[in-house]
Formats: sequence, structure tokens, C-alpha cells
Amino acid sequence: MKRIGVLTSGGDAPGMNAAIRAVVRTAIYKGMTVVGINRGYNGLLNGDMYEMDVRSVSSIIQRGGTKLFSARCKEFKEEAGVLRGVEACRKAGIEGLVVIGGDGSYRGAGDLSRHGIPTIGLPGTIDNDISSTDFTIGYDTAMNTVMQLVDKLRDTSHSHDRCSVVEVMGRDAGYIAVNSAVACGAVEVLCPEKEYNVEEIIAKMQASRKIGKQNFIIIVAEGIGHSQELAERIQRETGIEARATILGHVQRGGSPTVRDRVLASQMGNYAVNLLEKGIGNRVVGIRGTKLVDYDIQEALKMTKPFDDDLYDLTKVISI
Ligand code: ADP
Ligand code: F6P
Repeated sequence: MKRIGVLTSGGDAPGMNAAIRAVVRTAIYKGMTVVGINRGYNGLLNGDMYEMDVRSVSSIIQRGGTKLFSARCKEFKEEAGVLRGVEACRKAGIEGLVVIGGDGSYRGAGDLSRHGIPTIGLPGTIDNDISSTDFTIGYDTAMNTVMQLVDKLRDTSHSHDRCSVVEVMGRDAGYIAVNSAVACGAVEVLCPEKEYNVEEIIAKMQASRKIGKQNFIIIVAEGIGHSQELAERIQRETGIEARATILGHVQRGGSPTVRDRVLASQMGNYAVNLLEKGIGNRVVGIRGTKLVDYDIQEALKMTKPFDDDLYDLTKVISI
């Protein structure tokens, strides 16, 4: 394989730039040329692409966001869109492709592979909701961002003897919520994987108040939502002043952590090594400390165990 493409797709994540850099530099090191495709599958369909050289990726390892921009492309969900994508690859001389994104992006990568464009998926999403890897690119940075922000909220909530209800990202998954709850000493965490009971939360808060607990952090995953209503109900039923804060897209930005930069660099390199061998229709993941790759369709069928022990830990150490 002599010429490959790279794109980022779906929600952006810190570390995507480090992955792009590793793809570009590894490919050039191996004597390949690299085409950077802007705005995900949209750029592929619109011909929004350019040849990258080693300097195209200078000084991006430390930056959040994605140099190649990201987008969602409805057309690519239809067979006709995929066929146009295949045609666009052929026209641009792209023999293999690296797609950095989430599950949806993996489906597009599988479709391209099925039509003869070997494509490798790299897990780029802050949510960590990709079953074929223990960790996704961007997750560690997002959790650190949440931790720093919740620490700031704790300062003010402590000064006023208040309860802070904090909504974190994770539409379908509570990985950010549970980990940040442990890291920030939250009294409760509400996430899509677990049932919750507001009466029990309120009773626990009242019992903790009796033994001297003055301020409270409650983490709510985006998939649960209703943070404002929860804060109002807590205030109404406990008499403890409560404020809701939705952290929002600030969690998707910022300079990637060392873990995300290293993971992204390793995965970008691994993807090009597969393409060099003519291997496509794979996604890259990490299991423990080892990089692995799976067939895309098999990867999409996998499920990811929820860490019940970590969830239970929040209950034990937050009284
Ligand atoms: P993520 O990749 O982060 O899960 P999306 O689900 O929005 O984000 O998917 C990103 C893009 O991947 C979509 O806009 C679309 O272009 C492509 N995609 C999503 N689902 C499919 C599908 N079933 N078949 C082909 N392409 C898809
Ligand atoms: O990247 C994943 C994610 O952050 C989800 O947790 C969130 O629901 C979603 O993206 C929001 O994406 P957008 O606002 O870009 O549509």
C-alpha cells in the first residue's frame, strides 16, 4: 500500500490530533503518502482533502480538537453514500484509510472495507463506550477535566454548606460519571447502567448531615439528565441548598493528558502497520497494556462490562 487516507468522525476527542500525527509520521516513515480528509466522511464525499507531509502535523500533539475537523455525515449511512465514498477513494488514489471516531464511524469503516477499501478504525471518543477497547482516546483527558471542574465546584459548595449536582457527559454510558465520582468524593452517582432512587439519596444525605457532613457532590451522567429538577427536589426535601451545573462541551476540549497522547500515538502507528500489510476491516483497541485488533463486525457486537465494584465503592467511601 503506497497511499493512505486519514479522517476524524463523530464527536471530537482530545488526542485525535496525536493519533493523526502518528498516522501521518508512521506512513511517511514507511515511504507512503498520506491524504488528510477534512470533516469526516463529508470531506471524502466532497473531495475536501489534501496531501499531508511531516510538517502538516507539527505542534499538534498537545492540542485538543482535531486538525482535520470532524462532522456527522447522514449520506454515509446509506449504501449510495458509501459507494460514492469508495469512488472518491479510488479517484484520490487512496488505497487504505484510517478512521478515528466512535461506533458510528466504525460502521462506515466496515462498509468501506466491504467494498474493497481496507479501513482501520481507531477509538476516538471521550465517553469510553467502545467495547473493543479498555480505553478510548480522549477519555482520560475528559475525566481529568471533570475532576478539575468538580474540585472548583466543591470549593464554593463547601463555603456555603451546599449540595452541588454536576451533570457530566455520557449519553449512553456512565464511565466518566463513575470514575469522576470516585475521584471527586461524590456522595452519589447516577448513571444509565444503574437504577437509582431519589428517596434513598435524600435519606442518605440527611443521615450524613446528622453526622456532620456539610457539603455534597452528586454526579449525574448526561444519559440520566434532569439535574436541575434533582437539585430543586433535594433542596425542597432536605433544606440543604442545592445548585445544578451542567459541564457540557468543555469536557470535549483541552490539551490531551499523557495517557491519551501515548495511547493515540501507539494506536495511530498500529493502524498504519496493519494497512502496510494490506489488512483492513479491523479496529484497534487496548487490553491491559497490550494493543489488539479485531474484525469490525465482531467488535461492534461486543459488550463492555460495567465496573460494579467501582460503582459500589462510591457508596462505601462517601458517607
Ligand atoms: P461516533 O462515530 O462518534 O459514534 P456517529 O454515530 O455520529 O459518531 O457516527 C459518525 C458518522 O459515522 C456518521 O455521521 C456517519 O457518517 C457514519 N455512520 C454512522 N452510522 C453509520 C452506519 N450505520 N453506516 C455507515 N456509516 C455510519
Ligand atoms: O462524544 C460523545 C459525546 O460527548 C456524548 O457524551 C454527548 O452526548 C455527545 O457527544 C454530544 O455531541 P454533540 O453535541 O456534538 O452532538
